[in-house]
Amino acid sequence: MPVFVITGANRGLGLEFVRQLSTDSSNTILAATRSLSRDLSDLESLKSKGATIHILECDTGSQDSITAFSKQVASVLGGDDKKIDFLLNNAGINATPKQTSLTLTPDSLANHINVNVLGPANTVQVLESHLQKGTVVMNMTSGLGSLGYSRTKDPTGCTSYSISKAALNMLTVHQADNLKGKGVVVVCIDPGWVKTDMGGSGAVLEKEESIGGMLKCLRGLKSTDSGRFFLYDGSERPW
Ligand SMILES: NC(=O)c1ccc[n+]([C@@H]2O[C@H](COP(=O)([O-])OP(=O)(O)OC[C@H]3O[C@@H](n4cnc5c(N)ncnc54)[C@H](OP(=O)(O)O)[C@@H]3O)[C@@H](O)[C@H]2O)c1
Repeated sequence: MPVFVITGANRGLGLEFVRQLSTDSSNTILAATRSLSRDLSDLESLKSKGATIHILECDTGSQDSITAFSKQVASVLGGDDKKIDFLLNNAGINATPKQTSLTLTPDSLANHINVNVLGPANTVQVLESHLQKGTVVMNMTSGLGSLGYSRTKDPTGCTSYSISKAALNMLTVHQADNLKGKGVVVVCIDPGWVKTDMGGSGAVLEKEESIGGMLKCLRGLKSTDSGRFFLYDGSERPW
């Protein structure tokens, strides 16, 4: 009865995680969306596929919302001591892709750090009692958060996003260390460049391939993998 918690599950890669997991009736999926007051028909339609799916609200840019979410999670699972097997910190934004280092604004950087870094940090903090021996925490990062990769790509924009994902990578290393004693595995994974609203139609990967690869990678992780940075296909990314 593996339990999956997925943020940003109403569209894009988060929805694809739910879609692929939904056909296994042994899965329990807590699918979080920024707001319940919206069209969630794509997510709702997966409820009939076999898995047990709970749709919960979590705005990962709001500490209050994340705290309220943790209470809903405990309620659905039946207590603070109930284990989450996979916590997938997927929600993210790339709101100012045209900004470069020369046009970066404080608001843009603060917004990206809030959602892309503090969101996963706060989510892990409030759900810590559910993270137990063997739990896998995945922070959805990006190749743009890799310093090594970015140096080969002549980056032309997405500066706030890139900085926030590099910070998320560092958060991953800290979370891996801080949770090592509990036997929790924490990794960051780059999904590749995928056709979603964020990735755009020019992207090279279909959602099915990216998420299929990520689930295989996540299921195969060992305790010694904690703190590592992977590409969706399980290969290692340079920091
Ligand atoms: N697609 C790519 O090529 C690519 C490449 C590298 C990394 N990634 C990463 O993969 C993750 C998913 O990206 P995607 O391609 O699926 O993007 P997307 O199609 O834009 O979907 C983003 C998801 O994140 C949610 N989200 C954003 N801000 C949120 C908030 N404050 N609270 C809760 N949910 C929030 C969105 O919810 P709303 O519908 O409410 O906005 C949506 O469900 C992101 O972390 C992204 O950085 C994507």
